[in-house]
Amino acid sequence: MNIEEIKKFKKNEKLVMLTCYDFQMAKIFSSVGVDLILVGDSLGMVFQGDSTTKNVTMEQMLYHVEAVAKGAKSIPIVGDMPIHSYSTKEIALENAQRFINAGADAIKLEGYFPETINYLVKNGIPVQGHIGLLPQTYESFKVVGRKKEDHDRLLKEAKEIEQAGAFTLVLESIPEQLGKEISELVAIPTIGIGAGRFCDGQVLVINDLLGMDPDFHPKFVKRYANLFEIIAHAVSQYKKEVKEGNYPQKEQVYE
Ligand code: KIV
Repeated sequence: MNIEEIKKFKKNEKLVMLTCYDFQMAKIFSSVGVDLILVGDSLGMVFQGDSTTKNVTMEQMLYHVEAVAKGAKSIPIVGDMPIHSYSTKEIALENAQRFINAGADAIKLEGYFPETINYLVKNGIPVQGHIGLLPQTYESFKVVGRKKEDHDRLLKEAKEIEQAGAFTLVLESIPEQLGKEISELVAIPTIGIGAGRFCDGQVLVINDLLGMDPDFHPKFVKRYANLFEIIAHAVSQYKKEVKEGNYPQKEQVYE
C-alpha cells in the first residue's frame, strides 16, 4: 500500500488508521494489515504522561517514527507535525523532510493552514489535514462544531484543505451530522476520531483501544481489551513468585 492507494478508501471500503509509537506495536499492526499508521503527537500524553500534546518536540517525534518504521512493513506511516514545527511554510518543509528521512511516508498538519499544505504538497510531501478539535491549541477537550458559525467554518476549512492538496483529512470531536456533511463535501477520505459513523475511515489512539489507562475513557473510545488489568495481573504474578522464591524454576536456568 502507498499514499496514492489510500485515496481509494473514499469509495470502496472503510480506512483503518491507528496511532503507533514503537517497533513491536508496528510489527503487530503489520501482521494484522492496518491501512495507515499515525505516529501521533498524542505520545506526549500516553507515552510521556503530560496532560497535553503541547510540549512534544521534533526530536521526540523523529525518535518514534524511526522505531515504528522498523516494524511497519508495507503500511504507510504518517508523522504528526508537533506544535511550533510549521510556524512558516519554509520551516514546515524543512521539518516535513526530516520526517520523511526518518521513515515517514507523509505528515499530518493540525489546523487550517491551506497555504502551508499546498507548499508542502508542491514540494512532494503528502499531507494529511486535521480539523475539529485541535489538541495543540485547544482551550478544553470539548466537541467542536455545534454552533452554526463553527459548523460553517469547518465545512469551509475542509474544502480548502482538500483544494490545497491534502490526501486525507482527520476530523476530531465533531457532531456526527457534521462529519457526514464534510465526508460528502470532499473527495478525499475523511478519518474520524469522535466524528461519527459516516467518515470514510476511523482512527484511535492505540492505548485507548487497548484499555491501558482506566482513568481515561472519552465517549468515542471503544475499548477492545483491558490491557491495564492483564498487565497488572502478570506483573503481580511475577512479583509474588520472585518474593516466594518460585521464579526462576529449573526450566529458566542455564546448566
Ligand atoms: O496525535 C494523535 O494521535 C492524533 C490523533 C488523535 C488523530 O492527532
